[in-house]
Amino acid sequence: MSFTLPKRAVPRLNRSELAVPGSQPRMMEKAAQSGADVIFLDLEDSVAPDDKPAARANVIAALNELDFGESTVSVRINGLDTHYMYRDVVDVMEKSGERLDLIMIPKVGTPADVYAVDMLVTQIEHAMQRKKKIGVELIIETALGMQNVEAIAAASPRNESLHFGVADYAASTGARTTVIGGPNPDYVVLTDKDAEGNRDIHWGDMWHYAIARMVVAARANGLRPIDGPFGDITDKDGYLAQARRAAVLGCEGKWAIHPSQIELANEAFNPPEKEVDRAKRILAAMKEAQAQGRGAVTLDGRMIDAASVRQAEVMVAKAKLIAGAGRSKAAGKAEGAKAESKRAARA
Ligand code: GLV
Ligand code: MG
Repeated sequence: MSFTLPKRAVPRLNRSELAVPGSQPRMMEKAAQSGADVIFLDLEDSVAPDDKPAARANVIAALNELDFGESTVSVRINGLDTHYMYRDVVDVMEKSGERLDLIMIPKVGTPADVYAVDMLVTQIEHAMQRKKKIGVELIIETALGMQNVEAIAAASPRNESLHFGVADYAASTGARTTVIGGPNPDYVVLTDKDAEGNRDIHWGDMWHYAIARMVVAARANGLRPIDGPFGDITDKDGYLAQARRAAVLGCEGKWAIHPSQIELANEAFNPPEKEVDRAKRILAAMKEAQAQGRGAVTLDGRMIDAASVRQAEVMVAKAKLIAGAGRSKAAGKAEGAKAESKRAARA
């Protein structure tokens, strides 16, 4: 190991991250019940300029009045190049009590963008004597942001996660897309001709470089890498395929731009049961070898090295987090049902 050890961000489940427009109170009500790991209430691109002040007021009301259960709650503020941004931070933080967990900054281009928001958030936290320290989610969605992603990831101790904002990234880089976050039929490799002159077409993943680069920057700084939106809400297989590709590269979760994508995200980012079982067996084998004073650990006839043990530890810790969330969601539902039947009995 290096003498420099990345400090890990606050551990949170972040498999599914539901996006909800702040201009739609009804959708925020439904989102609160969705059970998504993270819910972000949007003041940015899903809200038209004329609706910005009303959306801000809706979001503040939602944070004060709705029960978001176990979900982590975030607000996506407007970009630092707009005059909406300072009021988003000031009003939301000053008027929404302690429920807010995270602020999401869109189109981060340089570490100074993060520094500026950190300064504002820190002042308000002190002035309001907030108990909960607000974390920050950063969307990497411009060429500038990707160029500076390493410095951005290290810019503040509030940083918790990096998100790949594929739609704006395509706009910024001039990439050609057909479906937001999906593949492009022009991004293919042709095999050489076989004896009969036939060739196969292999589709490639045009987002591989961007996601892999963001994952490295995130992990090197102890942050969660999260894949962004997938635009075709009718294409569940397409969503799952993209989510699984991101999971394989190291992402911890993916956005859901519709509640129907929440379960898909959870499915893709839950570690497979077989792998969790194997990880537990690796840790048990290691413990046994240590107890017996053996240096070499084997499982099923194969040597287990230190890197496999570290991977197993990460996987088992994640499985515990998921199991814990499952239990508290079930308890939350049971509480809700009890309250509901008491209400019905009173009526
Ligand atoms: C998200 O904000 C995106 O641009 O994909
Ligand atoms: Mg965007």
